[in-house]
Order: sequence, then structure tokens, then C-alpha cells
Amino acid sequence: MFRNLATIFATFAALMLAGAAHADAAKGKEVFVKTNCNSCHGMTGKGDGPVAAALDPKPRDYTKGDFKFDANGDGTAGTDEDLALVIKNGAAAYGGSAMMMPNPTLSDADIALLIGYIRSLKQ
Ligand code: HEC
Repeated sequence: MFRNLATIFATFAALMLAGAAHADAAKGKEVFVKTNCNSCHGMTGKGDGPVAAALDPKPRDYTKGDFKFDANGDGTAGTDEDLALVIKNGAAAYGGSAMMMPNPTLSDADIALLIGYIRSLKQ
């Protein structure tokens, strides 16, 4: 009986979390479009936006979920903190392409939403 209640509660909590993540992904998409990330990374995050054809290296394909820069130098590339630093300071600050420009005016909250959205596109 108690175990069933616990299961029901856990399921409910998981559904609530999934709902919240979904709402955040929608907000993240808004920021992504508002900030024109899609012009290079593409609406579906495949790195195939209209500007991408002219770029080398290509914008990162988010559907692969594979990231390059270890911006905070902790030995692991592509952590949330690494992505936040690259989005804020641009890739050139970490030896990458200057086409991935800095976004100094984005708030930390918007950067967190962007990262949530980027992670949600992994296939
Ligand atoms: C003018 C084109 C352009 C725009 C606009 C752009 N990017 Fe990028 N982005 C790139 C390119 C090119 C790379 C690959 C850089 C490299 O490998 O040196 C990249 C890489 C990235 C990466 C991968 C970092 C890693 O460690 O692999 C993330 C995350 C990212 N961009 C997020 C964003 C976000 C969020 C926005 C919008 C605020 C944005 N980009 C706007 C071109 C762009």
C-alpha cells in the first residue's frame, strides 16, 4: 500500500518535472529565435541555418549532442558551464571560430534556457 503510494507519487513528480522541462524548452526556443541563433544553427538545431553554408567550421549540430570546448578547463568538454561560457564569450575565446560570436547582453537566465533548449534537441 505505502509502496504503491510512493510509486504514484514518484510518477506524479516525474510527470511534473517533464512538464516543467517541456515548458522551459519552449521558452528556450523563444530566446534561441529572438537571439538569431537559428540563422546559423538552424531551426531544428542541425547546424544548417541559412548562414551555415558559408561557414567553416560549421555551426555545431545540436542533434548529435557532441560539444567541443572545455571552456572552464576542468577536463570535460560540453558541460553546462562550458556551453554557458562559449555562448557568453564566443568560441574564439576558447580557440574556436569567431563566427560563434560573444553574446554579452544575454542574461544568465536566458543562457540557461538556451542550454536547456540545445540539450532538448539531442536525438
Ligand atoms: C554567425 C553564426 C552563428 C550564430 C549566430 C551562432 N552560432 Fe553558435 N556556433 C557557430 C559556429 C561556427 C560554431 C562552431 C565553432 C567552432 O567549432 O569553432 C558554433 C558553436 C556553438 C556551440 C558549441 C560549443 C561547443 O563546445 O561545441 C554552441 C553551444 C553554440 N554555438 C550556441 C549558440 C547559441 C546559443 C547562439 C545564439 C545565442 C549561437 N550559437 C549563435 C556559429 C554561430
